[in-house]
Amino acid sequence: MPTILVTGALGQIGSELVPALRTRYGADNVIATDLKVLPPSGAAALAPYGHLDCTEANQLHEAVRRYDVGSIYHLAALLSASAEAAPQLAWSVNMSGLYNVLEVAREYGCQVFFPSSIGAFGPTTPRDSTPQVTVQRPTTIYGITKVAGELLCDYYASRFGIDTRGLRLPGLISYVAAPGGGTTDYAVEMFYHALRYGRYTCFLSAATRLDMMYMPDAIAAMMDLMAADSGRLRYRNAYNVTAMSVTPAEIGAAIARHVPSFAVDYEVDPVRQAIADSWPRSLDDSAAHHDWGFAPRYDLEAMTADMLARLRSKLAAARSR
Ligand SMILES: NC(=O)c1ccc[n+]([C@@H]2O[C@H](COP(=O)([O-])OP(=O)(O)OC[C@H]3O[C@@H](n4cnc5c(N)ncnc54)[C@H](O)[C@@H]3O)[C@@H](O)[C@H]2O)c1
Repeated sequence: MPTILVTGALGQIGSELVPALRTRYGADNVIATDLKVLPPSGAAALAPYGHLDCTEANQLHEAVRRYDVGSIYHLAALLSASAEAAPQLAWSVNMSGLYNVLEVAREYGCQVFFPSSIGAFGPTTPRDSTPQVTVQRPTTIYGITKVAGELLCDYYASRFGIDTRGLRLPGLISYVAAPGGGTTDYAVEMFYHALRYGRYTCFLSAATRLDMMYMPDAIAAMMDLMAADSGRLRYRNAYNVTAMSVTPAEIGAAIARHVPSFAVDYEVDPVRQAIADSWPRSLDDSAAHHDWGFAPRYDLEAMTADMLARLRSKLAAARSR
């Protein structure tokens, strides 16, 4: 069993991907790393855990050599809203980080997972049932790094034979770790606010339709893609995946079926609204279904019920501490 290295492991995805990988492949075989320096007790609880800045090539080389890494899930990045606030830093982390990962993968023959995004599309992309292969002219620095990342990963696959694989992930909804500065963060905030305050002020307009997925489906998709028979992959970087195409009003209504007093009002943030308006309303993910059996389990209703139940337990546990 080759060792797996996860970069950006303390983020929204890594907080659930690392435990899932450890369950499937063994705790000692999955090395969690992040830019954040944890206190010794925190690092011990997450062991094996190490500080790793993906923009520092030598740190990646050292980790891959020391742990004999065979597979890298490269999650470290700045997300859409954070990237727009700091475009130069976003280019450095998202592009130099990926380049360093691909170079170390080339040297040591590692498999690489790259999380692209619906942000890799732009205003000239068909917005409904967005095809797997289509126009990709994003207008955000985040989207530009994702398209360039997809192309770079494909280049390393065709030029150097590196086994790179990627997903164009939609907005992810989860309860373990907070989202990290994306345009779809409102979807997660809505659930917390419903249980804590009974109301939420949304930064996107009520009718903004975007693709979403519940985190368990996203984690399964990443691991299934990485384990899929490479001969069946018509595309590598990156497969469209989605589980639902929903608006803030529809998520609010789904929550209100469980929390009847829940109310949502709207104060649109022009920066994040402009980003959302440049993205698809719904993706065509038939290639992922066909090539490697992508099959999400949670629709809006199933996700809402599970999310609220898990969050209720999490908030109750936090109160009793
Ligand atoms: N969460 C989503 O909805 C979503 C959707 C589509 C794509 N993605 C992609 O998935 C990946 C992970 O997303 P996430 O939601 O977990 O992000 P996040 O912001 O929650 O976590 C990113 C992590 O990367 C770390 N990091 C930042 N700079 C770093 C550096 N220089 N070196 C090492 N680590 C660094 C941060 O400390 C953080 O823990 C990103 O590439 C993101 O673009 C996420």
